[in-house]
Amino acid sequence: MTSIDRLWPDPEGDLDDERLLELTRMPDGPWLRMNFISSIDGAATQDGRSGGLGDDADRRLFGLLRWDADAVLVGAGTARAEGYAELRVAHDAVAWRIARGLPPQPTLVLVSASLDLDPDDRMFAEAPVRPVVCTVPGVPSARRDRIAEVADVVVTGGSGVDPQALRRELAARGLRRVHAEGGPTLFASFLEAGAVDALHLTLAPRLQNGSAGRIVRGGTEAPTGMRLESVLRAGDELLLRYTRS
Ligand SMILES: NC(=O)c1ccc[n+]([C@@H]2O[C@H](COP(=O)([O-])OP(=O)(O)OC[C@H]3O[C@@H](n4cnc5c(N)ncnc54)[C@H](OP(=O)(O)O)[C@@H]3O)[C@@H](O)[C@H]2O)c1
Repeated sequence: MTSIDRLWPDPEGDLDDERLLELTRMPDGPWLRMNFISSIDGAATQDGRSGGLGDDADRRLFGLLRWDADAVLVGAGTARAEGYAELRVAHDAVAWRIARGLPPQPTLVLVSASLDLDPDDRMFAEAPVRPVVCTVPGVPSARRDRIAEVADVVVTGGSGVDPQALRRELAARGLRRVHAEGGPTLFASFLEAGAVDALHLTLAPRLQNGSAGRIVRGGTEAPTGMRLESVLRAGDELLLRYTRS
């Protein structure tokens, strides 16, 4: 297993899971952080998925970042492309969460304008906690009714979901600390709405070339200053944490 070291602010070698959890915990919130991986030349995917870019250290951190989340937020495009199953953290994470007053499992929150989702999918059918699906007013009612059988459906926005309204709705449900796993369209809409507090970015040590998209897709320019909070290193890979400045 590739060790993860902290380079900055205070150098520290070979961080164990407990220490990584401590260093990456979200504040009480409401708080929303995004997690992404990118190649050095800005590609967010390899062969249409993000998994090929990461190594064991990135996968380790990806898993740990779910531990302290009330909710894990995902765009429907990512759930479809990456084949999301039910959201379930492992036994050691459950014990860690209960010891800190968190519910045993985080809630999966999906964002979809089309509701082109299968209610029989494992994401819903095997979910330990009833998921929340956030959609828009214009979605056909038949689709909405089908998903409402397996998830709580929240309707906000116009042609797209309103990120700030969604955050308020989640906070009202006690889901204050939201860990978002993308993807690029979701990230762009949340950035545009000023609804992102932090970004974990893994910089994979490779140049991809090709035509893969970036970690944001669409939206209008929304320059957002970010402050560097920490730099971890796993071999040649950098694991960066930024908060909105
Ligand atoms: N590098 C990384 O770390 C990383 C992370 C995540 C994903 N990815 C990659 O990104 C690709 C998918 O990109 P993507 O842009 O399609 O991902 P996405 O943002 O997860 O999905 C886009 C879809 O999500 C829904 N959506 C997102 N924001 C919305 C909003 N504000 N309002 C309403 N609906 C919204 C819509 O679903 P409907 O179509 O159902 O209406 C939209 O078509 C995949 O190849 C995946 O592997 C990479």
